Amino acid sequence: MSDPVNVPLPVVVLISGRGSNLQAIINCVQSGNLPVEIRAVISNRPEAAGLRLAADAGIHTEVIDHTGYTDRAAFDRALQQGIDRHAPGLVILAGFMRILTPAFVEHYRGRMLNIHPSLLPDFPGLDTHRRVLEAGAAEHGASVHFVTAAMDGGPVIARARVPVEAGDTPESLAARVLEQEHRLYPLAILWYALGRIREDAGGCALFDGAPLSAPVDMAGIDELPC
Ligand code: GAR
Repeated sequence: MSDPVNVPLPVVVLISGRGSNLQAIINCVQSGNLPVEIRAVISNRPEAAGLRLAADAGIHTEVIDHTGYTDRAAFDRALQQGIDRHAPGLVILAGFMRILTPAFVEHYRGRMLNIHPSLLPDFPGLDTHRRVLEAGAAEHGASVHFVTAAMDGGPVIARARVPVEAGDTPESLAARVLEQEHRLYPLAILWYALGRIREDAGGCALFDGAPLSAPVDMAGIDELPC
C-alpha cells in the first residue's frame, strides 16, 4: 500500500503577471522541501511572464483569457473547469489579479490560498506599498490567507513583517516585502500539504486542529522550508 504521507499534494497555481512567487514555489518543490506537485499554471493574461517560468520548469501551462468572456461569472465557470480538470487538492493564487465570484470562491472553500502584500487585515486591495507609506506606518509585510468572498478578507494563516525605512519608496518597500513573500508562501503551502492548517466550517483558520487566535508570525518559525 502506498504511504499517503509521501504522496505530494496536487496543486494548480493561478497567476496574472511576473510570477516571482510562482518561481519561489517551483524552487522550493525542486529542492525537495515542499511536497506538492504543480499540475498546472493557469494565467488570465496571455502575456504573463510567469507562464515562461512555468514552461521552463516543465510545468503544464494554460491561458484562460478573461477578455474572451462576456461577464465575470462566465469567466469563473471556465476557470473552474480548467482548474478541476487537474483535480488539485489546493488552488494557489500567486499574483492572480481578478476579483472572484462568490460561487467560484465557495467551490474552493478551504482549499484556496492567496498571498497579499500587506499585514492583513490592514491595507486590503491594490497599491498597498504606496498606501502604507502615505499612512506613515512603521511596519509593513505580507499575509497568506484562505480565500473567501470578501476580498483579501479570509482567515489569515501567517504573516511576515518588514520595517518601513526612512527614504523608502513604493518600489523599495515592495522589494523588501517581496523577498519575504518568497519565504512565507512556501511555508504556508507546506503547512497545508502536511494537513497542519485548515479552514473550519465557521470560516476560522485552524493550526494543528486548534483555532488560530492570531496569524502566525514568520519571524517565530525556526526552520523555513525554503
Ligand atoms: C505579489 O506582491 C503578490 O503579493 C501580489 O501581487 C504580486 C505578484 O507578484 N498580489 C496581490 O496584490 C493580490 N491581491 P509575482 O507575480 O511576482 O508573484
